[in-house]
Amino acid sequence: MLKGLYFSNMVIDKSRQYQNSSMGSDAKVNIRPFRNGDATQIREIFMLAMVYGQTSPMRRALRAQLFEPATFVLYGAFIAGLMLLIRDHTRMYGAALSFISVALFYSWRTLLWRKYLSFMEQSTNADLANIANSYGLKVIAKTDNQEEIFAPSGVSCFWVAEIMMDGRGTGKIAGFVGLDVSKSEDQSVAELRRMAVSPAYHRRGIAARLINTAITQARAHNVTSISLSTTMFQLDAINMYKKFGWVEERRQWFKPTFLGGALVVWMRLTLTK
Ligand SMILES: CC(C)(COP(=O)(O)OP(=O)(O)OC[C@H]1O[C@@H](n2cnc3c(N)ncnc32)[C@H](O)[C@@H]1OP(=O)(O)O)[C@@H](O)C(=O)NCCC(=O)NCCS
Repeated sequence: MLKGLYFSNMVIDKSRQYQNSSMGSDAKVNIRPFRNGDATQIREIFMLAMVYGQTSPMRRALRAQLFEPATFVLYGAFIAGLMLLIRDHTRMYGAALSFISVALFYSWRTLLWRKYLSFMEQSTNADLANIANSYGLKVIAKTDNQEEIFAPSGVSCFWVAEIMMDGRGTGKIAGFVGLDVSKSEDQSVAELRRMAVSPAYHRRGIAARLINTAITQARAHNVTSISLSTTMFQLDAINMYKKFGWVEERRQWFKPTFLGGALVVWMRLTLTK
């Protein structure tokens, strides 16, 4: 029964319809609840997917900075500075203006990078620092090498996609997701959190399988809706959630400044009987 529940990827309605069309047969992964031995890889994948990877939201935020209105002011100041370099009597001003605009541009970029990095590091020090506790997992057995095997004690759970070789788990993790009701007064409203797939395994249907597993768990516990928040820098994720039936509820700027910010997008999936 337990095995059937946690290792099945069968979901009804829109999710099943989507799963059937998208799950790549080449993605040989097993979706299972978190184990303590996964913790280091989870933190590494999280930082890679969210910060350091080429398609991470951080990289996209840095690319978006290049097109901010304030950046165009700096481009203008830089070009004006270059033009002032032409004449002898304005050369000093030109050099100063060019230098200041470049310095401001890079300081702003560094600030963006540092703020985002510290935000992500805080995440790895929050629920990701103690996944078993944060997601209400209980020990149900031990592996041959005495590693604890967890199962959810209620609605909440944290799953990983473990890469399989010759039908056996390799211990290598490709992605993960959490389903959490700890912040919700109403246990029928859950939150999908920490969805990430290692860039090397993107577009193989791994996130789709993780989402299907979370939805199966939610349905088994009579959860009626699953909320999540993402940002405008995660268009791939937004597309993916929409495909599963999530609907955008609202958008709000997170700590906006004249230098821009992150537009947070809240979405909700309503689960029908
Ligand atoms: C978003 C993310 C989890 C998707 O993981 P994945 O395993 O590559 O996704 P899947 O292969 O299961 O794709 C599922 C669907 O999502 C959508 N999708 C995923 N990546 C996409 C991309 N780069 N561009 C457009 N759509 C994309 C597609 O609809 C895709 O279905 P399809 O392949 O049949 O077209 C992954 O890109 C990631 O980790 N991103 C960085 C972290 C992040 O943004 N997490 C979300 C936090 S809210």
